Amino acid sequence: MTKIIIAAKSDNNVIGKSNDLVWHMPADLKFFKSKTRGKLVIMGRKTFASIGNKPLPGRPTIIITRNPEFTAEECRVVNNIDKAFELAEQDGADEVYILGGAQIYEKTIGSADKMFITEIKSTFEGDAFFPEIDKNYWVEVSRETFEPDEKNKYPYAFVEYHRK
Ligand SMILES: NC(=O)c1ccc[n+]([C@@H]2O[C@H](COP(=O)([O-])OP(=O)(O)OC[C@H]3O[C@@H](n4cnc5c(N)ncnc54)[C@H](OP(=O)(O)O)[C@@H]3O)[C@@H](O)[C@H]2O)c1
Repeated sequence: MTKIIIAAKSDNNVIGKSNDLVWHMPADLKFFKSKTRGKLVIMGRKTFASIGNKPLPGRPTIIITRNPEFTAEECRVVNNIDKAFELAEQDGADEVYILGGAQIYEKTIGSADKMFITEIKSTFEGDAFFPEIDKNYWVEVSRETFEPDEKNKYPYAFVEYHRK
């Protein structure tokens, strides 16, 4: 099973602030949807809260929390990250997408196989960060760059990394 991290980060590695995103980039949302549509996804309890405490349409969802009483409609809940991957394996999934946030990226970047990183080419203030991408372990295999346009205020790039 391929474990895939997907995230959007700024030049200073910000991914969020006050449990929300800090930019509005429809091109990234479209990219995110195209990659994750129909896929099994796992996310931390705070990211789940940030998307409105309901699963993203068409994406079977596993939520990670330390709270043994936490439940969420139409989602499975686990109390550690290994358990999330075990459930995904049991489902027979070929791929599982790791949707964050910061705590979950930090704990899975050491074992993920692939990453789709949207680089938002600006700096932002925030309180949630993507971990450093250590080039000893990750190789960039593709990069598509885009200029700002009417709907997307910042330059951006879709970058794919594979574990070396
Ligand atoms: N730009 C992006 O691509 C992107 C993507 C996703 C999220 N975000 C942003 O990231 C921020 C949220 O990130 P975050 O780091 O604060 O939260 P998070 O990683 O989404 O969730 C953290 C929660 O996950 C649970 N957890 C973490 N490690 C665990 C472990 N080892 N075992 C069991 N449960 C564990 C805990 O839940 P309990 O407290 O319930 O125990 C913890 O509070 C928001 O600002 C969001 O908008 C950005």
